[in-house]
Amino acid sequence: MSKIVAADIAHITAAAKALSRGELVAFPTETVYGLGGDAGNDRAVAAIYAAKGRPSFNPLIVHVGSLNAAASYAELSPDALALARRFWPGPLTLVLPRLPGCRLSLLVSAGMESVALRVPAHPVAQALLMLSNRPIAGPSANPSGRISPTTAAHVEEGLGDKVAMILDGGPCRIGLESTVVSLLGEEPQILRPGGIDAETLAAELGRPVGMAPQVGDVAAGLHGPGRLLSHYAPACPVRLNATSAAADEALLAFGPNVPPAAVVLNLSTTGDLTEAAANLFAMLRALDRPEVKGIAVMPVPETGLGTAINDRLRRAAAPR
Ligand code: TXA
Ligand code: MG
Repeated sequence: MSKIVAADIAHITAAAKALSRGELVAFPTETVYGLGGDAGNDRAVAAIYAAKGRPSFNPLIVHVGSLNAAASYAELSPDALALARRFWPGPLTLVLPRLPGCRLSLLVSAGMESVALRVPAHPVAQALLMLSNRPIAGPSANPSGRISPTTAAHVEEGLGDKVAMILDGGPCRIGLESTVVSLLGEEPQILRPGGIDAETLAAELGRPVGMAPQVGDVAAGLHGPGRLLSHYAPACPVRLNATSAAADEALLAFGPNVPPAAVVLNLSTTGDLTEAAANLFAMLRALDRPEVKGIAVMPVPETGLGTAINDRLRRAAAPR
């Protein structure tokens, strides 16, 4: 039976109750769908790792309703406050030192002294946080290593049997995960490019923001949790910077000038990176069919949101 329900107030209330019983519910955010569990309940958090098949050294994002709520769990430096005030609610996750006595499960931090916090902008996520009155641990609602879900149907495909319900809020507006910024060191550092680009963060802070070593860099993958190389991966192989498609390849195009191919989906015919980000995961899924032997992807410019799009594409193409 389908677990998908309309995200109306009755179902959001039921989802909040399920969370309080330690059950898992999938919910929409403006970035991707999250697999939610009570962040203060060790069993619920352990169930999230188990449902995703996620290595337990890869910590989870905790969603909270407001900056005030965030401040009750973690230490916010002046830089953290500046970023939170400007970009929350929104597609930004801050990695911060846990406060002493912090009531979040240590499992969300994978045993570390830090915690990743985010205030989502999606009204359904906001309502769920308010009605459940608890922080919600929420990684993307996909089996570990696979493509992140941007619709309720995607969630059902991967994790339908693992959740109490899936709140359907329609397709995600941004379609790429949040930008993860660490504020643990002297200078803020981007751990994962995402919905807010580096230039926009730098403009707010008044100085450049560094990027942790990324996929393809020497030794990337060795720099802490979440840096697994192969990720966001369709079942069939992905080939990047393609200028043409082979007979048995599907083409994931970008921009107005598209070479011929039997099956083509275009991330954005006008070359718009925001539109491309919103389409990326759904199109990778749509092209990932048994009769397709590989997905050829046209080049996407490495500017603005293109950095995050290319990060996901490189992971999708990485050796498994
Ligand atoms: O947009 C998003 O961020 C979505 C929606 C559902 O909010 N969530 C998401 O969560 O993508 P997840 O768990 O798939 O990705 C969390 C990322 C991982 O790269 C993880 O390694 C990193 O955040 N992370 C979490 N806690 C961390 C910590 N304490 N230190 C360093 N990195 C951390
Ligand atoms: Mg994920």
